[in-house]
Amino acid sequence: MKVNGTPYRTIWLKPGDERVVQVIDQTRLPHAFAVLDLATVADVCRAIRDMTVRGAGLIGATAAFGMYLAALQAPDDGWRDFLAQAAQALKATRPTAVNLAWAVHRLQSAMAVAATPAQMRQIAKQAAVALADEDAAHCRRIGEHGQALIADMAQRKHGGRVNILTHCNAGWLAFVDYGSATAPIYAAHDAGIDVHVWVDETRPRNQGASLTAWELGQHGVPHTLIADNAGGHLMQHGLVDLVITGADRVTRCGDVANKIGTYLKALAARDNGVPFYVALPSSTFDFTLGDGVAGIPIEERAADEVRWVSGKNAQGVVESVQICPDSTPARNWGFDVTPARLVTQLICERGICDATETGIASLFSQELLT
Ligand code: MRU
Repeated sequence: MKVNGTPYRTIWLKPGDERVVQVIDQTRLPHAFAVLDLATVADVCRAIRDMTVRGAGLIGATAAFGMYLAALQAPDDGWRDFLAQAAQALKATRPTAVNLAWAVHRLQSAMAVAATPAQMRQIAKQAAVALADEDAAHCRRIGEHGQALIADMAQRKHGGRVNILTHCNAGWLAFVDYGSATAPIYAAHDAGIDVHVWVDETRPRNQGASLTAWELGQHGVPHTLIADNAGGHLMQHGLVDLVITGADRVTRCGDVANKIGTYLKALAARDNGVPFYVALPSSTFDFTLGDGVAGIPIEERAADEVRWVSGKNAQGVVESVQICPDSTPARNWGFDVTPARLVTQLICERGICDATETGIASLFSQELLT
């Protein structure tokens, strides 16, 4: 996607020095656009943990490049142990998005066939680049499939504006390119369909306000920022035609872990007869799990992310302010699970399916068997 007219991905090898990985520092958006160098596994772990990079797909791609950096750092004698330790460290950074462990395993499997350190390093680079390219290609396909749903809604509204609500940021910033929830929106907008997006602010870290609003603005997609609790009201008044969210982990039965608050939006959508779609690449499925509420690990982050908010003051300076009394305790769960029964359909790179084991098997029968 483009930033001020220049095409960008969210992660790439540094031109002229491919021993360094570069990422967009998402903690600085929307007030500053900055690129950060990652040169070691420790750099990558820190970037994932402190959410310099975030979003399921990008966490996976960054972990893949983390394994590439580990390959460069590994000593010629004992490289297998070094890689195993790096894999453990990367997988421990964040618990909910399954793309992380998936990407690390994929790199480990690819590197396992190497006979020499030199071969291992070459395989690691190729595998990380291929994984990132695949992530972008899958999101592009999600966009093509999802665009048909938006086109259908536009037709039902006789060409009238299609209002889509989304939660958090499942945009191109959450992947390598295009995004999952936003890919159908970008495709529809580019095809000339009149779309408008309701952007949930997404407390506590406000990824909707700071990231989704920014990237939709960069692409010229009409959008409006709303308070997290406004969605139900808008749905009651016919102002939301469909909801599209992303996902951090989806079970083989179709239960969806996504940013905290998604479940409440799905309940409101069901009560108001609004279709609730979840867009995800295959790397976000956890085929080992059935019951998402029981099985998906939910990240709990620092309480201060709830107690403080960050933004730009009237002088244009970015600062953080505390929003509660000094002694107020807080808890901060990052994700919730929306049961499959509340999900209208899943939009994947292979097509659109029901959020049921049978529906998912119609697209991923092989993966469900293994
Ligand atoms: O905590 P984050 O920002 O990494 O959370 C991820 C998200 O932005 C959302 O849950 C998103 O919808 C899924 S990521 C494609």
